[in-house]
Amino acid sequence: MTNRNNQEANLTRDFEKLDIVFANAGITGRTPIGATDEAVFENVIHINLNGAFFTVNSAAPLLNDNASIIFNGSVHNYLGQAGVAAYATTKGGVVAMARAIAADLAPRNIRVNVVAPGATKTPIWKRGARASISAEQSAKVDDLFSSMVPLGRWAEPEDVAKAVLFLASEDSSYINAVELMVDGGLTGAPFGAPLLRG
Ligand SMILES: NC(=O)c1ccc[n+]([C@@H]2O[C@H](COP(=O)([O-])OP(=O)(O)OC[C@H]3O[C@@H](n4cnc5c(N)ncnc54)[C@H](OP(=O)(O)O)[C@@H]3O)[C@@H](O)[C@H]2O)c1
Repeated sequence: MTNRNNQEANLTRDFEKLDIVFANAGITGRTPIGATDEAVFENVIHINLNGAFFTVNSAAPLLNDNASIIFNGSVHNYLGQAGVAAYATTKGGVVAMARAIAADLAPRNIRVNVVAPGATKTPIWKRGARASISAEQSAKVDDLFSSMVPLGRWAEPEDVAKAVLFLASEDSSYINAVELMVDGGLTGAPFGAPLLRG
């Protein structure tokens, strides 16, 4: 049995039919230019892009008409931060992917959208390079990030979850193929941030 058939069989066993798919899984990873092994780059791409695509690919046959699919993107589609080219590529990629899949699934009235969070308090920030920094350094980074957001704080996971629920629900019944920023204004109004206010 192929891997794809395996995934479909598992999904069918666990959920006969689906109304909502949130393709959330993802990793970060440092990929500075000139110093990155191909395997490290490929791992980020594979988990974040292949993972997102094949989650939805496997779920597609089980989706009810009028279902809703949500991908998890990131402000890194826009920020231009050094050292995260692979991650940023994947987060731009899921937006393009969502648009194409929205066209695939339009005949079934299935909507496909993206949430694009800013820095959100989840365990991802305790992994990789950040796992080894001191509590004091970590608090400094936390404060710096807060000062770059017009709303002056990190996102709580609930801030993102509420946006996902909105896109999953009938409240967003005519919203399709969009990227919804959930970033406290980081990308839309950067000069409103405490760091840059006059
Ligand atoms: N936190 C942020 O600041 C932030 C900002 C923007 C976007 N995002 C995005 O939000 C999503 C969730 O991240 P998070 O912040 O909640 O980080 P997290 O706490 O590290 O969660 C990552 C999730 O992805 C799953 N995952 C990772 N690799 C996987 C693999 N190979 N196969 C299956 N599942 C895998 C993990 O499952 P296990 O626990 O089983 O390993 C975990 O559930 C990601 O797509 C991330 O890029 C996060």
